[in-house]
Formats: sequence, structure tokens, C-alpha cells
Amino acid sequence: VKATFDRLARIYRSLEFLAFGGDLERARFALLGRLSRCRSILVLGEGDGRCLQRLVRLAPQARIDCVELSAAMIAQASRRLAPPDRARVRFHWADARRAPLPGGEYDGIATLFFLDCFTPAEVESLVGRATDAAAPGALWLFADFTLPQRGWQRLRARAWLALLYGFFRLTTGLSARRLPPSEAILTAAGWRNCETCQFQAGLLTASLYRRPALIAGPEASP
Ligand SMILES: C[S@@+](CC[C@H](N)C(=O)[O-])C[C@H]1O[C@@H](n2cnc3c(N)ncnc32)[C@H](O)[C@@H]1O
Repeated sequence: VKATFDRLARIYRSLEFLAFGGDLERARFALLGRLSRCRSILVLGEGDGRCLQRLVRLAPQARIDCVELSAAMIAQASRRLAPPDRARVRFHWADARRAPLPGGEYDGIATLFFLDCFTPAEVESLVGRATDAAAPGALWLFADFTLPQRGWQRLRARAWLALLYGFFRLTTGLSARRLPPSEAILTAAGWRNCETCQFQAGLLTASLYRRPALIAGPEASP
């Protein structure tokens, strides 16, 4: 059975404000403006369109492809867009793990509270596919739940994550049971961290990654 967020589409916003006040929103938007010069952006798992609504304004030259598995989320997101902005957005009702993506196309990629829905193997595959779809020098905006290294912050985060994974497993059929090491996977795929912000004592992280414009080739032999 595929995980679906259809049942949560209408109440998703209220639920997050109930649990974390405006901090998820802060994490989503903290670095969104860094994509302002992008011309071709891929958003995986957009959700109810709050990010998209802001992104179309912040990146006025961008065409935006959204790959989203929940039809109800796409309907919500589409409703938030006014006609002139709507023309620059294409919704793809598809599973991001399998949807075909154009090679070397995107100069911006956004995964906001998305990669934490998957197992480590799935994140590796998703990151690999999106990396192939990225242009040299592309930016990747990542925001997710994260587990702080130590202290009460780690204990608190563990409790929240157990609750959240339990809740999403029941309501959406999510198969992931714990946080995947998404940032380590991005780094291993060649993305370099440029900026990071944290919220909720390290439970929420927003990070900006860049793919080097030129990959150095093998040294010329003497
Ligand atoms: C936790 S929500 C995050 C939504 C939004 N990005 C945010 O910041 O709140 C995860 C989103 O990813 C979508 N999703 C889950 N699995 C997916 C998949 N395999 N392919 C595409 N979208 C998926 C869900 O429908 C949902 O909208």
C-alpha cells in the first residue's frame, strides 16, 4: 500500500501549528529566498502549497515542477496560486521515487519535510535521481526534522520523532520508522553545505546545499 497524505491535506497546516507554533513555517522559509535567481526549480513533495505560493513570488523567473503523490495536496496547492503565477508551475501527480526527471535541468531543488518520509535506501535513490536532474552549480534547499547530537535536546527530539513517526504511520501508511541520514546522503552525492539554520532546539533544520559547478576530472598524466 502506498503512503498517502490525502487524509491530512486539509488539516496539515493546523496540526503543525498546534505542535510547533510557527517554527515549521520558519524552517521552510528561512532560506527559501536563496532560490530567488533560479530559473528551473524542482520541488519534491510540495504538500499544501504554502511554500510554493511564496516561491513563485521569490523566484519570479523560475518555472517550477512539483512532484507530489497526494492528489488532495495538489488540489490545495493549486488553489493557492493566482493565474499569472500558476502558468509557471507544473504539477506532476506522481511518486517521486519513480517519476521520470529530465537530465541536468534544474538549478534549484527543494525538499522540505519530505526526505524524512523515506528509508535510508529510498533517500539514497531519490537523492541520486534528483542529482542527475540537477544542473552544475545547482542549489538544493533541504529542511527536515533532525536529531541533535547530545543533551536534553536529543532526548526531546527522540520523543517527538517517536510520536511523529507513529502518527504518520497510522494516518498515512508511511513505511519509514526513523530519520534517514539525509544530509550525509546529500554530502556523499557531492552536494556541499553552504548555510544552516536550526529551530526548536535542533529538532528542525533548514540547510542550503550547492553542487559544485565543475567536477574535477582525473589529473592529467605527466
Ligand atoms: C510531510 S509532508 C511535507 C509537505 C511540505 N513539503 C511541507 O513542507 O510541509 C510530505 C509530502 O510529500 C508527499 N509525498 C510523500 N511521499 C511521496 C512520494 N513518494 N512522491 C511524491 N510525494 C510524496 C506527501 O503527499 C506530502 O505532501
